[in-house]
Amino acid sequence: MPTTSVTIEALSKRFGDFVAVDDVSLSIRSGEFFTLLGSSGCGKTTLLRVVAGFLRQSAGRVLFGDRPIDDVPAHRRNTGMVFQNYAIFPHLTVTQNIAYGLKARGLPRAEVDRRVGRMLEMTRLAPFAARRPRELSGGQQQRVVLARAVVIEPDVLLMDEPLSNLDAEMRVHLRGEIRALQREIGVTTIYVTHDQEEALSLSDRIAVMRAGRIEQLGTPHEIFNEPRTRFVAGFIGESNFLPARRAGEADAAGLVPFEAEGGPRLAVPASRLRGEGARFVLAFRPHHVRVAPGAANGAVLRDTVYAGTSMRQVLDVGGGAQVVALALSQPGAVATAPGAALRFDVVPEAITAFAEDGGP
Ligand SMILES: Nc1ncnc2c1ncn2[C@@H]1O[C@H](COP(=O)(O)OP(=O)(O)OP(=O)(O)O)[C@@H](O)[C@H]1O
Ligand SMILES: [Mg+2]
Repeated sequence: MPTTSVTIEALSKRFGDFVAVDDVSLSIRSGEFFTLLGSSGCGKTTLLRVVAGFLRQSAGRVLFGDRPIDDVPAHRRNTGMVFQNYAIFPHLTVTQNIAYGLKARGLPRAEVDRRVGRMLEMTRLAPFAARRPRELSGGQQQRVVLARAVVIEPDVLLMDEPLSNLDAEMRVHLRGEIRALQREIGVTTIYVTHDQEEALSLSDRIAVMRAGRIEQLGTPHEIFNEPRTRFVAGFIGESNFLPARRAGEADAAGLVPFEAEGGPRLAVPASRLRGEGARFVLAFRPHHVRVAPGAANGAVLRDTVYAGTSMRQVLDVGGGAQVVALALSQPGAVATAPGAALRFDVVPEAITAFAEDGGP
């Protein structure tokens, strides 16, 4: 199947005075599953619509491979599109819906049948081939949209929140199918979502967007474990943010000592310091916090929330600061009573220190 890299160069899109996409540059590899992730209004759809050719950028260019496509109209860019409001034809059957784009391109009947047949198999829609959209579930309808986008053998597949109208269970199920289908056909994919879990589980790489700009670009592992800014640390997954003062220079092992609000001492690898100065905020995940009785370091258990598989402990660590710890439930574990003095630890590699003033 033909597919291509996509390069976005210094792209901006303004609506009047408002800058919706602000000087974005990206290189998406051939065959890559690339996700634009960000909260509502950050410019994801706008950027995707420029790549699709539905919107003209204010500045910058878009290339498929080494070919600039800015002057190529949308219907000639050979993109497959799965947009939220890109409805399927209600009066056509599943087969006819999938075949539509191929017939419009004048492909011979035998070729249309072959490709539609393969698509029905791949999306497991074969049993519903003769049904009309209203006789399908939401998830099945969305699979028809997906099949229709992919059957034309696009150079690039563009998807804008394709799962957002489905219930939670169907979202997770279809997510797996989208990934499997994309892997099988190997088409370069740009996927838009505001759902971080979806982005983490689907993507080869993610661009986290904020106010029209890219805040961080990396693999799911990098985005989750090595947030470059405090915004990313807070936006992706849950994070503790504990104010702390830098308490010295890095030791021989490259660990910088910090004294957190209320007194606990924590060490952070020098490579995980973001910014300069004395006042920092230490960011770390609840599941990286270890809580142990005895040899207390100033933490007092305020509350335990049992959630079946996991257990959350909220600790008062002094100075009004709190730390949340998350652990898998263990058989026979005895809940600690609120008010107990405890020790909490976080391995240095799990902490990122963001400077309070002048940091990212
Ligand atoms: N045609 C338009 N005219 C004026 N402003 C627009 C237009 N289209 C989008 N915007 C603005 O540009 C910004 C980015 O919009 P966009 O649709 O790209 O956001 P998004 O990241 O896709 O958000 P969501 O997650 O809600 O879909 C928003 O503030 C929006 O109001
Ligand atoms: Mg959008």
